Amino acid sequence: MSADPKPATHDYRVSPRSDGWQGRRLLSDKLQARLERQLSDTIAAALTRLDLMPDGGSRELGAWAGEFFRIHADSPAGDNPGGSGVNDSLWLFVLARALRPARIVESGTHRGHSAWILHRACPDTPIDSFDVDTGKLTWSHAQLQVHAGDWTQTIQPDPANAEALVFFDDHINHARRVVEAHARGFRWMLVDDNFAATQVHATGGPPLPSLDMLFDPEVVPGDEIAWSRGGKDYAWTYTEAAEHGARDLIESYEPLPELGGITRFPAGSGLSLVRLKAPRAASQP
Ligand SMILES: C[S@@+](CC[C@H](N)C(=O)[O-])C[C@H]1O[C@@H](n2cnc3c(N)ncnc32)[C@H](O)[C@@H]1O
Repeated sequence: MSADPKPATHDYRVSPRSDGWQGRRLLSDKLQARLERQLSDTIAAALTRLDLMPDGGSRELGAWAGEFFRIHADSPAGDNPGGSGVNDSLWLFVLARALRPARIVESGTHRGHSAWILHRACPDTPIDSFDVDTGKLTWSHAQLQVHAGDWTQTIQPDPANAEALVFFDDHINHARRVVEAHARGFRWMLVDDNFAATQVHATGGPPLPSLDMLFDPEVVPGDEIAWSRGGKDYAWTYTEAAEHGARDLIESYEPLPELGGITRFPAGSGLSLVRLKAPRAASQP
């Protein structure tokens, strides 16, 4: 009988991660360029639908994707457990660059990762970030104001908000957030965790209803939305009152394409871009 063959081993080289950005890159140059091209193609299709392509077209978009991968590993929040992952962070970066908002308001600071991504996308833009628990924040900057409590206590109606971006990543009823943002004059709104009723188990404490449920003809008042997660059962009854009349305030909304199939980082969490009606137009039939 012959001796057991030597077990197969990997033959790649491994070295500690370098501190220089070249060392932090995700892939070798040629592969990284290919990945960024694939991402840019998918992102460009969505930005074209939204009429938000940068003047420099795909080339500029590719440069934004490259910049994103160079900065992402520097996030002071590290891997950001409980917050936005790589795919959603890329969307936040690109959308903030494309929209060039005069001001950014965020609800759901957590460790400050998404605020940091938005800041790196728009370094000159003031950011107000709200959380009921601001104790997890990992960075500070003159452009970042962090507030404890609900955003409605601080942010007032202002015509200038039409040029601002508000981002909700706080797991609160999306319909309620639509009404609040519209009442304060915002037109651009991003929501995270926009899960369909059939995906409601995908996150802890999902927004109820999500925008997806609000526009789902199969979800009607009286329906029980029930799910299991982490060994517990949850249930919520969909009501007309929970809709807050929000549908009539939305001009359009675009669930952003999932990038996880390209990057193989864990799937994003339903980031969606909403265009709210102008305050006057909303009162018309
Ligand atoms: C998913 S985390 C936010 C992640 C963060 N945006 C990121 O990507 O790095 C949700 C946060 O919403 C906060 N939160 C819950 N209710 C809130 C409210 N009414 N207003 C603001 N933040 C709230 C929670 O404390 C939690 O830190």
